[in-house]
Amino acid sequence: MSQGYRVAVLGATGAVGTELLELLEERNFPLAALKLLASERSAGKKLSFKGENLLVEAVSETALENLDLVLASAGGAISQIWASKAVEKGAVVIDNSSAFRMNPEVPLIVPEVNPEAAINHKGIIANPNCTTILMSVGIYPLHKVKPIKRIVVATYQSASGAGARAMSEVKNQSLDILAGKEPVTEVFPYPLAFNLFPHNSPLNSAGYCEEEMKMVNENAQNF
Ligand SMILES: NC(=O)c1ccc[n+]([C@@H]2O[C@H](COP(=O)([O-])OP(=O)(O)OC[C@H]3O[C@@H](n4cnc5c(N)ncnc54)[C@H](OP(=O)(O)O)[C@@H]3O)[C@@H](O)[C@H]2O)c1
Repeated sequence: MSQGYRVAVLGATGAVGTELLELLEERNFPLAALKLLASERSAGKKLSFKGENLLVEAVSETALENLDLVLASAGGAISQIWASKAVEKGAVVIDNSSAFRMNPEVPLIVPEVNPEAAINHKGIIANPNCTTILMSVGIYPLHKVKPIKRIVVATYQSASGAGARAMSEVKNQSLDILAGKEPVTEVFPYPLAFNLFPHNSPLNSAGYCEEEMKMVNENAQNF
């Protein structure tokens, strides 16, 4: 690590953080330094990157100094606390949480759809919910040829969307069920292994749930 960007992954121990680290490694992203940030719970833990064991630090004002880029995936509430502090200290924050998606001051970017909107960022760049990203990548080329007026969507979301603990829960539930034992449920409201259940957040007056409205609103932002 010598020439390149000074990068921090905030949420490095999580499901998204783990993927981000794999991508930085796989793509040989030009790194001058890489900092792994999480909560106090994971401080001191080591994660492997390019054959080196890097220490995880608890996020703090000091930890956010001397950075060019912060890739944030520690949840909306955590981004609300730390993103602006990272920007004040000179970094650009790319935020994977829902914290800034509907903020008109923050560009909501899907690189395959509206990369040019990132140019006018004020320090924070957001990206949409995963279902919105996947759908917009697919439909944008069609939309350019003939504008899409209405779209009917069904999404089937995996345990990974709820984070690393949810992924472990489904794995353990699968092992328990296959061993004839009762599955243990802590993260999800019901056992998810060998099962399917709906997102059941309260419906709005039009009859849509929160997850459905994310797709409606976030697509409206970047089309
Ligand atoms: N999973 C997906 O498919 C997906 C896709 C797109 C966006 N997102 C969004 O990305 C964010 C993270 O999702 P995830 O699935 O990676 O969750 P996750 O597996 O639960 O990971 C959460 C990460 O945030 C860190 N964290 C939690 N509380 C913190 C605190 N107080 N201070 C600093 N770090 C803290 C955790 O660190 P510890 O190890 O210390 O707990 C962990 O590294 C969420 O906003 C989610 O909506 C998720």
